[in-house]
Amino acid sequence: MPTVTLAPNVHWVGAKDPDLAVFDIVIPTEYGTTYNAYLVRGSEKTALIDCVKRPFAEELLRNVSSFLPVEKLDYVVINHSEPDHAGALVDLLERNPGVTVLLSRAAKTFVDNLVNAGFPFRIVGDNEELPLGGKTLRFINAPFLHWPDTILTYLVEDRILFPCDFLGAHFASKEFFNDELPRPERARKAFEFYYSTIMRPYKEHVLKACERLKNCPISMIAPSHGPILRKDPGSYLAWYEERASVLSRVTEKRVPIVYASAYGNTAAMAEKVAEGVRAAGLVPVLMNSVEVPMEKIIDEFEVAAGFLIGTSTLNSNVPQPILQLIANLVVLNVKGKPASVFGSYGWSGEAIKTVQDILVSMRLKVSPEPIRVRMAPSEADLKACVDFGKKFAGTVLGA
Ligand code: FEO
Repeated sequence: MPTVTLAPNVHWVGAKDPDLAVFDIVIPTEYGTTYNAYLVRGSEKTALIDCVKRPFAEELLRNVSSFLPVEKLDYVVINHSEPDHAGALVDLLERNPGVTVLLSRAAKTFVDNLVNAGFPFRIVGDNEELPLGGKTLRFINAPFLHWPDTILTYLVEDRILFPCDFLGAHFASKEFFNDELPRPERARKAFEFYYSTIMRPYKEHVLKACERLKNCPISMIAPSHGPILRKDPGSYLAWYEERASVLSRVTEKRVPIVYASAYGNTAAMAEKVAEGVRAAGLVPVLMNSVEVPMEKIIDEFEVAAGFLIGTSTLNSNVPQPILQLIANLVVLNVKGKPASVFGSYGWSGEAIKTVQDILVSMRLKVSPEPIRVRMAPSEADLKACVDFGKKFAGTVLGA
């Protein structure tokens, strides 16, 4: 893979992985991904910013060696220690045991356990600057974007931001820059999907970083995944800020009620639960989990002060659409939100308890106690569902 120059003596030296279909076990990568790493050459010192996933280590080292012997590299910045970036650090240290690893205090523990050997290092402080000779790196603490270890690196003279995963996209193409892409809308889709699946739980931290970066004039954003954002870099930051501001739009009025119903019984319960929620002055949003796209359900959950899940039971277990919903809750910060469960069942109804247990383990506030009905709900059961909806609304309003 050829290298590319971002500015004088600033080069992309990473690797592309266009065939990757799934990232981190669960995230589909329709367009593959890249592991971007950057070399900054000052007149006195040189620094590599991030590494690559370990299977691509040779490519990284080959790219670096097209500019200088790997053994001569002075610094490597670990913006974030997840192995898709820090994995190849092991190989770099084998080739150059004297390279100084620059990282946050939180990253040191992770990297210790990744390398499993001693290495020269320096913990960098917030706003600390490192002169390389005509090039100055500034480190900005940005914990939880998206790990506790994250720092952003800013190249002062060229006004280039290296934010690692922040503002990234799982998108591989033969082009390097966003203004070279023949179909930029595909990269844009990947950029927005990346936020939704990776950065969305960390909105407070996104907003803090956006605010802090207002003090840094930015000519280019060079993330660790996807195209280098040379055209309109500020618009990407603005989009993040706008999306993360959803926190201020959380409404205590809307209550999503998502259900899976094999024979219409759980659906009938959901209607009555919604009636109770409405009677208490809130706005129920009924969604059948097999009809409404998951993304829309998650969007509704994001702005809701609480939510309800209706589930049938299938072979003693939770049906797939509800399991999928629960798996997708990892992209939200739901801790402390009110939630509860209801459902109809035939034999034993384990799914309701299973979902309740999962919600409790995710530290949601499960109240009132779930309600279960065997087979078709009677008139009394339906009335109990209305009461359940009212009680849940009381939990939301009192939360
Ligand atoms: Fe791209 Fe959090 O690693």
